[in-house]
Amino acid sequence: MDLEKTIANLGLVPVIVINNADRAEGLAKALIDGGIPCAEVTFRTAAAAEAIKRMVKAYPEMLVGAGTVLNVEQAKKAVEAGAKFIVSPGLDVDTVKWAQENNVPVYPGVCTASEVQKALNLGLNILKFFPAEASGGVPMINNLCGPFPQVKFMTTGGISTANLAEYASCPHVLAIGGSWMAKADMIENECWDQITDLCRQAVVAVHGFSIAHFGMNAQNPEDAKEIAKCFSVFGLKPEVGNSSTFMNKDIEIMHQNGKGVHGHIGFRTHNVDRAAAYLAQFGFTVNESTVKKDAKGNTKFCYFNETVGGFAIHLVK
Ligand code: 3PG
Repeated sequence: MDLEKTIANLGLVPVIVINNADRAEGLAKALIDGGIPCAEVTFRTAAAAEAIKRMVKAYPEMLVGAGTVLNVEQAKKAVEAGAKFIVSPGLDVDTVKWAQENNVPVYPGVCTASEVQKALNLGLNILKFFPAEASGGVPMINNLCGPFPQVKFMTTGGISTANLAEYASCPHVLAIGGSWMAKADMIENECWDQITDLCRQAVVAVHGFSIAHFGMNAQNPEDAKEIAKCFSVFGLKPEVGNSSTFMNKDIEIMHQNGKGVHGHIGFRTHNVDRAAAYLAQFGFTVNESTVKKDAKGNTKFCYFNETVGGFAIHLVK
């Protein structure tokens, strides 16, 4: 899988400030245990390169990149240590060109239209949006993606589990980065359980699962009408569509050929592709014939092939 897809599927990139490379393996394990096998180790400390080396050696399957890379010299050091990508707070043309010449994915930081334009002209279309909250957050990203629809952002700066939902559901956001999942003092004090917990909470938040509706199967449209009549005594209002009738958006009565022995459960999520990739590790496979996309090509709906207790499961954005 390409790096962009891997990062998009994870949706989260812990930004790491590590002062002591001896903590590298413990940190990597805490992140992996928390469901985020990825880290951007910042070159803000002298331990960064050694920490990258040790994380990559102990957990080769983990995606380790370098952050706060300010110049070509640091970029070289990062890649020598095993970094798979390079992130910078700003846009340094020399660093970008060196990375491109050496086939190293590079994500420079931008927060204005001029910087985005400059990065595009350097052949980049995945950029770090930094500092995200202070620069206008998702409304600013949506504005930038008017003239620059081809750009995807890794957003960092002022984001945490508490406010990441808007970023997670924005189609222009590739992933959300931040230091909140593993703060420098937590790493120094080896608070691995706390880091794992924070990562787990972030994973839950990045998907934002909630029940959209319950679905039930009628034999035919007439049968569906009868069922709708019964539910209307509870004050639910029918909204008749082509293939189903919704009762207050909470219950969907399939007119015919509904999936699942008992019906289906629709789950809402911030990003259907990311959620499907996450659920794949628990054995769910997308029923490709049910995938629906929006006008911009983003997946907005899919059923899974597997059922749970006789219920088919689908995701909806
Ligand atoms: C970065 O380097 O991307 C930011 O410093 C991370 O921002 P945060 O500390 O607000 O998460």
